[in-house]
Amino acid sequence: MSRDLRNQVFPCHLGIIMDGNGRWAQQRGLPRIAGHQEGVQTVKRTVEDCAEIGVKILTLYAFSTENWRRPKMEVDFLMRLAEEYIMRELPDLQRNGVRLQLMGRREKLPSSLLGVLDNVALQTKENSRLILNLAFNYGGRAEIVDAMKAIIMDQRKGNLVVSEIDENIFSHYLYCSNVPDVDLIVRTGGEWRLSNFLLWRAANAVFWSMPVLWPDFRKEHLQEAIGIYAKQIRNYNDGA
Ligand code: FPP
Repeated sequence: MSRDLRNQVFPCHLGIIMDGNGRWAQQRGLPRIAGHQEGVQTVKRTVEDCAEIGVKILTLYAFSTENWRRPKMEVDFLMRLAEEYIMRELPDLQRNGVRLQLMGRREKLPSSLLGVLDNVALQTKENSRLILNLAFNYGGRAEIVDAMKAIIMDQRKGNLVVSEIDENIFSHYLYCSNVPDVDLIVRTGGEWRLSNFLLWRAANAVFWSMPVLWPDFRKEHLQEAIGIYAKQIRNYNDGA
């Protein structure tokens, strides 16, 4: 699903690369995991802020396919943190009309985490105020490879004709086929890299990097980024 950006000065689909937890902790003489723990509070606030200001789809990059290379202790901690967050948030997700879904590869994820994710996804599936995609064990290239494999399987089963495959059909094979292109990608922590995030859906996205570390990210940073997006779209409209 792609849309004509010129019709909108407000991002419908916002993606966030949540970076800077480690540095936030280091600045305070704390272990890196303390930064992740604080980062969860920012996740909670940001989900509520997005629902309130009218973002319809929020994709949070919480664990990349590259993150498996981190020390086992940190990986295990992030798995547990995700599980606890999802379990604890269910009542608030329901109250705020948030639908949660996993965007990523299921393989290698602990079964207890998958169980909680599936349960909360099922219980929130009718919510329509905000779709929250948890990009977990997510990689943009892995997503494209997985889509390609699924396409080949469907073609072999006779469900798909190669000559009919186009960009629109391809996008239906991505993780979470109900999710359209991303309009705005915000990265915290100050680096200007996409880090394998939403590669296919980012074709027309505005990218904005902010120096603020993820645990310090607040509503005013969100609004600043949305302002940048509006300016980019207006400039594009003026030049079109
Ligand atoms: C990058 O910071 C952040 C991550 C790899 C994990 C993001 C996780 C959270 C925000 C908390 C968990 C969220 C959920 C929803 C369970 P970094 O460690 O690379 O920071 P650095 O660049 O300062 O080292």
